[in-house]
Amino acid sequence: MATIQFIDALSHKDGVEEATRLFSDTFHEDCDGVWAAPGRVNLIGEHTDYNAGLCLPIALPHRTFVALKPRSDTHVRVVSSISPAAVAVADLAGLQAEGVKGWAAYPVGVAWALRQAGFEQVSGFDAAFVSCVPLGSGLSSSAAMTCSTALALDDVYGLGYGSSDAGRVTLIDAAMKSENDMAGASTGGLDQNASLRCTPGHALLLDCRPELTALENVSQQLFDLDKYNLELLVVDTQAPHQLNDGQYAQRRATCEAAARTLGVANLRVVSDRIAKSDDPFQSLKETLDRLPDETMKKRVRHVVTEIQRVRSFVHAFAQGDIAEAGRLFNASHDSLAADYQVTVPELDIAVDVARGNGAYGARMTGGGFGGSIIALVDKGRSQEVAGLIAREFTKQDFHAPRALAAYAAASGSREA
Ligand code: GLA
Repeated sequence: MATIQFIDALSHKDGVEEATRLFSDTFHEDCDGVWAAPGRVNLIGEHTDYNAGLCLPIALPHRTFVALKPRSDTHVRVVSSISPAAVAVADLAGLQAEGVKGWAAYPVGVAWALRQAGFEQVSGFDAAFVSCVPLGSGLSSSAAMTCSTALALDDVYGLGYGSSDAGRVTLIDAAMKSENDMAGASTGGLDQNASLRCTPGHALLLDCRPELTALENVSQQLFDLDKYNLELLVVDTQAPHQLNDGQYAQRRATCEAAARTLGVANLRVVSDRIAKSDDPFQSLKETLDRLPDETMKKRVRHVVTEIQRVRSFVHAFAQGDIAEAGRLFNASHDSLAADYQVTVPELDIAVDVARGNGAYGARMTGGGFGGSIIALVDKGRSQEVAGLIAREFTKQDFHAPRALAAYAAASGSREA
């Protein structure tokens, strides 16, 4: 069987030590502290967040650690263990949207977004990043970076939002604004909410209706894989993954145009109407009949059915109906492939191999166009299923995939 690398999560001790060391080696002084925030996998509910829908992420045990110290001026210097010799610099004074290029846009953008939100006390900083969240894998390495930075800045500048779940929504807004407006990568809030609001052993049922307050829009759903003797395998296909290449924005624009055509604020309204109707199948058909073109019909069908699948998955998993939970994983992927058209051959093939080898269900996770799949398998089978996917990838001449073992871990926190 082909071998496949499993990516381990950095331990608390190693993350703190490595980030602290990178900071002092680079800036020749001690940091003020170390903070960390995780990547995520979304169990189900894909491309629903920006449609005011439902999604269901868990935080990964894989985290980004940042050692940080505030500065008395407006300068920012950031370094990452990926390229320890390359320190990126920026100045917050007079900074405009998209004014920083490269990866530094993500952390610098958080400070910029907090200042834009009126937190004028937020100023410059030096920061060193160490991460085990695989980059460009659809596992939210960017949210892990922006959210760890937001927690650090909240702490060192005494904003006081990091210590409560409701307060963290302010930090989530800054992290999102950084990604959207400074890094130019569209994101709808799923990743940042997961990184800052998940709790161990639970999936976060996130309701993205804008009218809900922070206290109303999440509920913690038990997600205990051990109880059902299961594992959640993640396979990073290593197919190139880019969310800022226009495809994501295009999907989003089509959904917004569809909502306008249907005379509603967002597609969630339509989805709820359909779900509550006497004959949801007929009601969906009538809705789609009102849309002008095939592409728009497909996109709407995905969003409407995916929101319903989140509800069904939560119910099935809570009942211990793993066959049904797996079926919903499969239906979600198939809808993303056929209707939302965000999969690539690597994702489809990885999912097929998992399904053909005993997985209860398998689906892509995240934005798509590359990235990772998740598969629900019996305990002890992850290695074997991952190896079979790797073998098929060799045959297909794809990049070698990587894997990791996922479970519902904790959200971001101060580490030292
Ligand atoms: C990316 C975005 C999220 C979400 C997913 C798709 O991860 O950052 O906001 O839209 O794609 O569900």
